[in-house]
Amino acid sequence: MAAATAGDLDFAQFVNKLRSRTGIDLLQYKEDQMRRRLATFRDRRGYRTFCELYEGMVRDAELYEEFLDRMTINVSEFYRNARRWEVLAQKIVPELTATRGKLRCWSAACSTGDEPYTLSIVLSGLLRRHEYEVLATDIDKGALERAREGVYGAASVREVPKPILDRHFKARGDTYAVSEEIKRSVAFKQHNLLADPYENGFDLIVCRNVLIYFTDEAKDSVFRSFSKSLSQGGYLFIGGTEQVFQPDRYGLETADAFFYRKT
Ligand SMILES: C[S@@+](CC[C@H](N)C(=O)[O-])C[C@H]1O[C@@H](n2cnc3c(N)ncnc32)[C@H](O)[C@@H]1O
Repeated sequence: MAAATAGDLDFAQFVNKLRSRTGIDLLQYKEDQMRRRLATFRDRRGYRTFCELYEGMVRDAELYEEFLDRMTINVSEFYRNARRWEVLAQKIVPELTATRGKLRCWSAACSTGDEPYTLSIVLSGLLRRHEYEVLATDIDKGALERAREGVYGAASVREVPKPILDRHFKARGDTYAVSEEIKRSVAFKQHNLLADPYENGFDLIVCRNVLIYFTDEAKDSVFRSFSKSLSQGGYLFIGGTEQVFQPDRYGLETADAFFYRKT
């Protein structure tokens, strides 16, 4: 094993201090990627060490918000991997509604809202408003603020089919605002998947493109928690580059590509 350098020690101290103060545990993210990204941020902001950056963040709430923005990667878009949303609409939702009443859905790590709004738009085409609810959570307050505003650039809506764009968005200059009706159907809340308790009784959990940043141990614990949060027969919908290895370990079975059913 290579000897720890002063840089390693500095980063380890930063990780410990941050965890004690904020509950955010960087050790649960893949280290190389995270450390590289944060080193670029530290250098750009003119700090020589991670510990100096930490002191800066304690003094300056704006710097801390910027750090959170850098640490979390907020890239998202409506109908990301469009074919998967078709599977959700044509197969998963009809199966769920055949056996239960109101659908309780959770979009976890929802970023700027593109995903939970897509979910609500899909559900609104199949169900009446009182037949479903969508909770949307993320660790990043800034992303949640943007989600609540619900205004997007053209790139975010490029996969949205034209009739849906016309029906559920209002074009304002070169931006698109989600309709009030869709906005009202989603409740946003801050939640750290690696530290906070999970609610129970969900029929569908959508969690896409965040697990790739987590260590295997962190993923394992998140899958266990998701499984407990799902009602029997409920579904977990994950991202296009993600996979649950040996889903039966978590009481899940593969239902379709990127969909797992709680057994
Ligand atoms: C790449 S975005 C994915 C957005 C959306 N799910 C999608 O697939 O388009 C990753 C999101 O995960 C969030 N995130 C990172 N760590 C998290 C954690 N520990 N708990 C909750 N959300 C987290 C980030 O803030 C970011 O908004």
